[in-house]
Amino acid sequence: MSRLDIFISRMIAQRDILNHIQANDLLPAEGAVLEVGLGNGRSYSHLRELFPMRRIVAFDRHLGAHRTVLPGPEDFVMGEIRETATAFIGTGAALAHADIGTGYPEKDAIIVTWLPELLAGMLAHGGIAVSGLPLDHPHLHQLPRLPSVEEGRYYFYSRT
Ligand SMILES: C[S@@+](CC[C@H](N)C(=O)[O-])C[C@H]1O[C@@H](n2cnc3c(N)ncnc32)[C@H](O)[C@@H]1O
Repeated sequence: MSRLDIFISRMIAQRDILNHIQANDLLPAEGAVLEVGLGNGRSYSHLRELFPMRRIVAFDRHLGAHRTVLPGPEDFVMGEIRETATAFIGTGAALAHADIGTGYPEKDAIIVTWLPELLAGMLAHGGIAVSGLPLDHPHLHQLPRLPSVEEGRYYFYSRT
């Protein structure tokens, strides 16, 4: 599979899972949305369209979003996510979306040693984690793969 096809597959998976969560009203009534890895801000802008009534907090080691979708300073947390996001543990977020996979198995193997615990800690009971990397955690219950999502491409979980 070409890198282009992998990218397109990942974007379809990401969009369809987020749309599915919104269309089926899967989020708890209260709680922020956390964009873990703001990047260019594409998924952040999609989250803003899907969840206009929620606070959306974005994390990244640098602010690289397109200027049309820049988060306000109060909603952007700069630095290493593993360190900065600990301040959000226990805050009862409704949704955490993490698109921080690298495509390098040895690097992703390190990320998945800390990311599941962090996301589980930031979410409310019944909150949803969406991730390009698998999240192996006793309090994250994997939800069924959508038909449009390729096996192993993107995952979503309910926080028990
Ligand atoms: C694949 S991009 C995210 C793309 C984003 N979903 C979008 O639609 O534009 C991943 C982003 O996460 C950030 N990132 C990855 N790991 C990080 C870490 N450990 N701490 C802080 N930022 C990180 C990178 O700087 C990069 O901007």
